[in-house]
Amino acid sequence: MEKSLFGIPNSDVYIVSFILVFFVVLEVVNGYLDRSNKKRSDWIQEFGGYLALGLTIKPAIIFTAMYLGMTFFPSYKYAISEMNFLFGLLGYLLIDDLLQYWYHRSAHEYQFLWKLHRPHHQAEEMGFFISYRNAWLYYVLMPNIWWVGIIVFLGGAKAVALGLILKQLVIIGSHSTIHWDKFLYERKGLTPILKVLERIFITPAFHHAHHGKSKVDGVGNPNGNFGNMFSIWDQLFGTAQFKHALPQEYGLPNDPKEHWTAAYFYPFVTSKNKESEISRGYKKEKTATIEPIDVKLEKGKKYLWCQCGLSKTQPFCDGSHHGTKKQPLVFEAKRTGEARICNCKITKTGPFCDNSHVQLKEI
Ligand code: FES
Repeated sequence: MEKSLFGIPNSDVYIVSFILVFFVVLEVVNGYLDRSNKKRSDWIQEFGGYLALGLTIKPAIIFTAMYLGMTFFPSYKYAISEMNFLFGLLGYLLIDDLLQYWYHRSAHEYQFLWKLHRPHHQAEEMGFFISYRNAWLYYVLMPNIWWVGIIVFLGGAKAVALGLILKQLVIIGSHSTIHWDKFLYERKGLTPILKVLERIFITPAFHHAHHGKSKVDGVGNPNGNFGNMFSIWDQLFGTAQFKHALPQEYGLPNDPKEHWTAAYFYPFVTSKNKESEISRGYKKEKTATIEPIDVKLEKGKKYLWCQCGLSKTQPFCDGSHHGTKKQPLVFEAKRTGEARICNCKITKTGPFCDNSHVQLKEI
């Protein structure tokens, strides 16, 4: 069964391509190319990733899922083809989005997946093409693409076709530099509309926060806002943060650059830069110590206290927590002067030492 809408085979592909071109024109007219500092390797990763995904990875996965279905479960072929269209569409989208939420979240919490997803967060400027910037293997393992193949096999191709268009509209919009939600949060009278919309769909402000370099600007939320199309999962699982502003900086706090071939083909190609997480044999060392560290703080300045124990700039965070379930704690200094900051990471009055480390010495 072909994915077709309006009687046109693969019409979703044409419509999604149209949406992409539409956003390209909007971004270019909006001065994107003049502002952009993207390098050749960024374009290769983003545009090349887009072509590889659409022309090889997705078709291969969908074909494989259908082949496996027909081989092992032939009686289920087109089993849901008589299902109510809207019911099928909603079911496809909700399950798809739940799978994506957990896959994406796992890619921030587990080292191996993080290394595949990391190129997406190395982008130092937003733009919808960065949605296609991940390692090749990240897409191969992505449950959503397999989910498309399963639904097509079961006979829900039309629901998939419309679902992919709606999804892409939200995803491209949320990565784009065209902040369609800005006019809603800049006009007080329209804010209630935004408040309803953002509780359901991912808005540019919500997703841009996820790409923020750190939480220190009060907007960035790199360890949250994981949603893809709907924000309901972030709200349900406690990772949502709604701010009507954009982060000051995008990218990773500590980014030893590597060649795009390593970023895209990891683990089959590794980085020659020994500082890179994707170099051969790289290991994050524990840097937490039992003793606290005395540091000079400046009144009113915000700091990120490392809670994962892996930072090379203890007691502060340097971004090494990416790929773990830990994240830093933001705090603002109340006065200028020396402070005793916990470095054993078990204090109950973080970031300040409460002498809990004494217990560790006694063990
Ligand atoms: S390096 Fe960020 S929490 Fe440890």
